[in-house]
Amino acid sequence: MSDLSIDFCGISSPNPFWLASAPPTNSGEQIMRAFDTGWGGAVWKTLGNPVVNVNSRYAALSHGRNRIVGLNNIELITDRGLSINLREMGEVKKRFPKHALLASIMAGTRAEWQELIRRVEDTGADGVELNFSCPHGMCERGLGSAIGQEPAIAEEITRWAKESSSIPVLVKFTPNVADIRDQGRAAMAGAADGVALINTIKSIIGVDLDDFIPFPKLRNGSTNGGYCGPAVKPIALHMVASLGRETWFTLPMSGIGGINTWQDAAEFIALGCGSVQVCTAVMHHGFGIITEMIDGLSGYLDEKGMTSIGELQGRALGNYKEWGELDMNYKVEASIDAATCSGCGKCYTACNDGAYQAIDWSDKKTRKGKPIPEINTVKCKGCNLCSLVCPLDCISMMDVSHTETVESWQDIVARGGYAVSDGIIVNDL
Ligand SMILES: Cc1cc2nc3c(=O)[nH]c(=O)nc-3n(C[C@H](O)[C@H](O)[C@H](O)COP(=O)(O)O)c2cc1C
Repeated sequence: MSDLSIDFCGISSPNPFWLASAPPTNSGEQIMRAFDTGWGGAVWKTLGNPVVNVNSRYAALSHGRNRIVGLNNIELITDRGLSINLREMGEVKKRFPKHALLASIMAGTRAEWQELIRRVEDTGADGVELNFSCPHGMCERGLGSAIGQEPAIAEEITRWAKESSSIPVLVKFTPNVADIRDQGRAAMAGAADGVALINTIKSIIGVDLDDFIPFPKLRNGSTNGGYCGPAVKPIALHMVASLGRETWFTLPMSGIGGINTWQDAAEFIALGCGSVQVCTAVMHHGFGIITEMIDGLSGYLDEKGMTSIGELQGRALGNYKEWGELDMNYKVEASIDAATCSGCGKCYTACNDGAYQAIDWSDKKTRKGKPIPEINTVKCKGCNLCSLVCPLDCISMMDVSHTETVESWQDIVARGGYAVSDGIIVNDL
């Protein structure tokens, strides 16, 4: 059986599944229950100067039966007393010495950051995570994402933390920036031990069309919040991969954002993460999801002949390429399985109105007498849209690559033609 244990910048954990700093890590009682259920680590809900939180705080984007595809919150850091949190942290570490326990922290001056770190160290915690990333409430006070968005300041505070800390220092990144790599450079320059990404994305999740108050509603209005949950996974994966493939970036990454299943976690690890953190999925389904996550990841590693997380880590990075490096000789064409097609016409409409008009109606009929669509292989661009909209999954994409070489974009440019690289028109006719 594969070994799921990890060493993340000197912090050991029985498995790579950690709870992210958020409501599931509000108290020692919750974290101990989570560890009993199987979670390998936890990052305590951000500690700092006491705040008062508002009612209400959360709002969700639902789709079909999935009640929380995306979650928006306007909550601040912990509203529990610092000494209570620290006392409970010590209790957790005593009962679970082999689990990873980190404290997310947020402070103002150098003296305040260093004092908070000293008090966290006294609990026996394994590490601190500098919260440079919450995108609402705290950033207006010059904290949270206001720091992540200013790499020079982030670097300086990281250095303060490292000066005074004897335990590993992680920096948690904000996705509310043009290029996540700026925070990566700052974390490296400040000598952080590791990074965690991503925190939530600044958002307004919706508006009540009767009283015109955005969600989540308070009596006198609402405010922008932080977005997370399954909907943000693609954004988080891209940010993780952008850093993971840079040779200059050598810090361990803890991946966060929309992780719901072991497959999600495996994707983050394949793109370079050494651990993963989960928030919304636990808020939605509870700590119990860990059993399936551990069994699933462990079974997958066994099936692939891998004996450790390290063997999976970064496996997909080499396949994340620049647009200009893509294989112009690869060609796929849609193929409809007439035996399973219901004749619903979703693919026809999508292709006709939203793509390349490459689907016609054939003379063939389903058992219920509906016409079956067929692919016009001359017009099909292999874009995938029909297979994505098909509710019965009866369209597959067939490899029909030609053996002759298709011109590369560089050759097209050389003969004065029109070509695109990295989404940019490199020349124009
Ligand atoms: C209600 C709520 C409160 C959160 N509070 C914090 C916090 O105090 N500190 C922090 O670093 N991140 C906080 N987060 C962000 C999460 O740690 C995590 O980065 C984000 O939710 C993305 O992960 P997910 O998609 O698994 O939820 C909070 C998230 C939610 C939903």
